[in-house]
Amino acid sequence: MALENILPGKLGFGAAPLGNMFRDIPEDEALATVEAAWNDGIRYYDNAPFYGAGLAELRMGEALAGKPRDQYVISTKVGRIILDDLEDVGARQQGEKAGVFAHGRANRIVNDYGYDATLRSIEDSLKRLRTDHIEIAFVHDLAQDFWGDLWLAKFEEARTGAFRALDRLRDEGTIKAWGLGVNKVEPIELVLGLDESRPGAFLLAGRYTLLDHGRALQRVMPLAADHGASIVVGGPYSSGALVGGPNFEYAPATPEILDRVARIKAIADRHGVSMKAAGLHFSLANPAVAAVIPGASRPGRIAEDRAAFDEIVPASFWQDLRAAGLVDPAAPLPSGS
Ligand SMILES: NC(=O)c1ccc[n+]([C@@H]2O[C@H](COP(=O)([O-])OP(=O)(O)OC[C@H]3O[C@@H](n4cnc5c(N)ncnc54)[C@H](OP(=O)(O)O)[C@@H]3O)[C@@H](O)[C@H]2O)c1
Repeated sequence: MALENILPGKLGFGAAPLGNMFRDIPEDEALATVEAAWNDGIRYYDNAPFYGAGLAELRMGEALAGKPRDQYVISTKVGRIILDDLEDVGARQQGEKAGVFAHGRANRIVNDYGYDATLRSIEDSLKRLRTDHIEIAFVHDLAQDFWGDLWLAKFEEARTGAFRALDRLRDEGTIKAWGLGVNKVEPIELVLGLDESRPGAFLLAGRYTLLDHGRALQRVMPLAADHGASIVVGGPYSSGALVGGPNFEYAPATPEILDRVARIKAIADRHGVSMKAAGLHFSLANPAVAAVIPGASRPGRIAEDRAAFDEIVPASFWQDLRAAGLVDPAAPLPSGS
């Protein structure tokens, strides 16, 4: 089923911060953040077992318990099983994401893109999320940033394992659609090039944002459009750096990034445009993008996100950004109003 027919709107909620990403978030603050999203009318929630080793799913399951299940949509991920026994969190091998969930649960995380592991992963997510179905399942981090040179071997493992298990779960009705959830464009390009039946739903994080979109524009966005595939944009604020936060993706923002943000902000200030609106509207302007899912761990962020989503951004802002070379000349820009 096409993503557009599943998603209830173009603004969703990214639950990675609920897994204690970057900080130890008090339980009531985490639950209040989901409640704020619900009260705001947000009905699409993205999650993953990886986020705090089950913590983000457990918190979302609790916060959404009692809400009518037919009124919201969940995506979660496969590729990692969360065990009951504990491990040394600091010794985990997690590529570029090492340390990001140091405050999450200490449960042992087993990476596995096999068929049986995928069935088990979904079964465990259903329990943590307190539901009997999940609308969308993304194969998580099947990419170079997590696996380095092993990523193609892992891709093959998933192609013959996870992909087939997800086809089965879709046929059985446990999920409605599946695809990849990655921070890199190459795995999506590879999937879209497969001869066999391929999925049409992707979560691409950090690669189609105001701060970083050049590579995605070259191949993955046109390929998605050609194949009728849709993309959910994760990390639309590049982990916060775009909107005043300290982090760019999984590390403190570099001076170069902060300088780019300052140059965009100077133009945004001149036009009375918020940086959140600039980020969200930019990502949504590409026709392949079905939704944006900013993350948040504080209830107050939700009203900011909604206001930004609804903001009217003048076309002259986009023209000035383009003239300053701060967006790729090939990037579709919002028409403004
Ligand atoms: N491989 C994958 O599948 C993948 C990878 C990355 C992301 N994703 C998905 O995409 C979602 C969004 O990505 P993300 O959460 O990493 O990053 P994001 O949406 O780019 O940014 C979220 C961060 O911005 C901060 N922020 C928001 N408003 C702010 C403000 N006014 N001032 C300062 N900081 C502010 C939030 O801080 P607070 O925590 O303080 O609210 C939060 O940490 C994730 O939650 C996840 O669902 C998927």
